Amino acid sequence: IRIAVVFGGRSTEHAISCVSAGGVVRALDRHGYDVVPIGIDVDGRWIVFATDADVLRADGEQLPAVRAAAGRQVVLTADPTAPRLVLRDPTDAPLGELADIDVIFPVLHGPFGEDGTVQGLFELAGVPYVGSGVFASAAAMDKEHMKAQLAAAGLPVGPYVVLRAGESLTETDRQRLGLPVFVKPARGGSSIGISRVDAWADLDTAVKTARTHDPKVLIEAGIVGREIECGVLGRVDAPGAQASLPAEITVDSPTGFYDFDAKYVTDRTRFDVPAVLSPDILEEVQAVAVRAFEALDCAGLARVDVFLTPRNKVVVNEVNTMPGFTPTSMFPRMWAASGLDFPALVDRLVRSALG
Ligand code: DAL
Ligand code: MG
Repeated sequence: IRIAVVFGGRSTEHAISCVSAGGVVRALDRHGYDVVPIGIDVDGRWIVFATDADVLRADGEQLPAVRAAAGRQVVLTADPTAPRLVLRDPTDAPLGELADIDVIFPVLHGPFGEDGTVQGLFELAGVPYVGSGVFASAAAMDKEHMKAQLAAAGLPVGPYVVLRAGESLTETDRQRLGLPVFVKPARGGSSIGISRVDAWADLDTAVKTARTHDPKVLIEAGIVGREIECGVLGRVDAPGAQASLPAEITVDSPTGFYDFDAKYVTDRTRFDVPAVLSPDILEEVQAVAVRAFEALDCAGLARVDVFLTPRNKVVVNEVNTMPGFTPTSMFPRMWAASGLDFPALVDRLVRSALG
């Protein structure tokens, strides 16, 4: 089976995607798949790497970026005469050996990868791919629409306000939300562009920071509670979805939240995998995670992030349709704790895409 692993991409999570892809490629290799690594550089150029994936296989090495020098530049088109992807080099010589890709694993985070755009291309080409389809990807990427879908399905979400370009927070909204608030680009990931605001005087700067990533910004009320995450996988041979054991994150960060450094850089974040939860709370977290997955029509995989309030209410923070796959990422670690190790997890995702 020939599988294209697409990684990198134009979003600010480019580097995270490269690190995620390294582990995925290794796992696929181990399962005997014929892997075609396709990197997308920060300008959006598609680059086919040597098929032996040496560049990705170097253990522990983090690819800082996809570079044109590392492979052969290609353009990708959906063949109008037959449902398949065609990779051509810029001189238009067809790359025949790449014409028959059986399945694609888009290990892409953020806009232009996790938001339905690339999924639309794969749909047009008629090639199966791992993960959520166009709608779920788009809905989950946009925090406004994600919350609307979750709330419509009866799932608890915290108080928030959407600020479109040019809008600012009214006094009524300030009173309703209270402090602290979290200011987030509507379409982003890995906490990039997010600020915690503990004094209203700092709000404008936080909104400006978020707007460098997205003109649309969400202001969310801070939720007091434990930070719990839960992995969800679509079932392979049956309808429905299955939740992993949840994990807990305890943050010790200068910004006061689970920011980029706390996620990937410092070793001061405590990860309890699995989380220590009573059986009934554990069941509730898993049930909410599966309901969130279904509310957004997700497929394949998702990581559902929730807060557990002091009164043991589960409040959904967000759903990530292509959660991080780095060595420190929670999604693979939660599944490993649930009995599915990294290679088995990746294999299962591919098999469910092939259906
Ligand atoms: N957006 C990052 C990769 C995550 O959700 O893990
Ligand atoms: Mg996210």
